[in-house]
This record gives sequence, C-alpha cells and structure tokens, in this order.
Amino acid sequence: MLQFIPLISELEISRQINKIGKMISKDYETKDLVLVGILKGSFIFLSDLTRQISIDHEIDLIGASSYKRTSSTGQIVFTKQPDLEFENRDILLVEDIVDTGNTLLKIVEFVQLLNPSSIKICSLIDKHERREVQIKVDYACFLLDKGFIVGYGLDYNEKYRNLPAIYDLKL
Ligand code: IMP
Ligand code: MG
Repeated sequence: MLQFIPLISELEISRQINKIGKMISKDYETKDLVLVGILKGSFIFLSDLTRQISIDHEIDLIGASSYKRTSSTGQIVFTKQPDLEFENRDILLVEDIVDTGNTLLKIVEFVQLLNPSSIKICSLIDKHERREVQIKVDYACFLLDKGFIVGYGLDYNEKYRNLPAIYDLKL
C-alpha cells in the first residue's frame, strides 16, 4: 500500500516561492527575463512563481521527458520546443526537481544552441543524493537529501500532481 507522509505544507511552499520571487525580481531588474517551465512537473510551480515576480517577463514552455530505462545515460525526448525567440535574452529554466541532473543538463545544452544572453536554473526541489552531473541550481526553494516525493506538480506514474502539498511517498 502507498503511504503519503506530509513533508512540505502549502504554507511553507507559498512562503518560499514568495521569497524566491522577490530574489528573481531584484536580480533580473535590468534584464530581459524569460521564465521557461519544463513540462510537465513544473506547471503548478511556474504558475505560482510567475505571480510572485514583480518585474515584466515572458513565459515559455519546453517539453522534455527522460526515458526511464535509460535515464542514467541522460537520454531525453523533447515533446515541445519553445515558441519565443531566446537569442540575447535571459533564460530562467523552471524545473520541479533536480535529481541526477541529467535531464536539465540536456535541456541546458539545447538552450545554449539558441544563443541566449544567460541561462539560469530555478527548481522547486534540489535533491542531492543521486546527482550524477555537475549542475548549479541558482534558485532552489527546498533542499532534499533523498526520497521520492509527490504533490504540487510532482508525480508518481503520472498521478498525485494535484495534491496541494508535498508528500514523501513510501512504496
Ligand atoms: P533527473 O534527470 O534525474 O534530474 O530527473 C529529473 C526528473 O525526474 C524530474 O523532472 C522529475 O520528473 C523526476 N523525478 C526525480 N525525482 C523525483 C521525485 O522525488 N518525485 C517525482 N519525480 C521525480
Ligand atoms: Mg516526472
């Protein structure tokens, strides 16, 4: 039986996003910010984060999913390309969770080809234990050592994204 152990409350999530939103608003004040959500996991985080950013910015989405079988080799498929022009703009990638880092590394490599002025990473969760590649998470709402979590956009076999808080899932 699946067990859902409460880990991060709705209130903690909203407080932390408010804080990160203020930091981003300050850091990007003189820049040309494009928030780029990575589908699907980031959709709830992205929608809350954009409303906590007080400076003008644009939003785009990139669809990427990793093949489970080969995730350790970082094989990913792009399911949606960005719509906006990225050249000479300041791209902030918005991700749900960085685990091994393989998915994000491939996305960064892809975005680099579009010649932006800068690329930074904002993740709801920065999970360390299984990190395989060197990747810097510039803005992280929460740090986590290990575990498998669901809720607030994060899924287990495509379910539980709708839970308003974050839970540690025990299988
Ligand atoms: P990475 O390439 O190993 O960094 O994998 C990142 C992706 O794996 C995330 O975007 C999630 O879709 C998924 N993932 C990794 N850890 C978790 C977790 O604890 N809960 C839900 N999804 C996770
Ligand atoms: Mg997922």
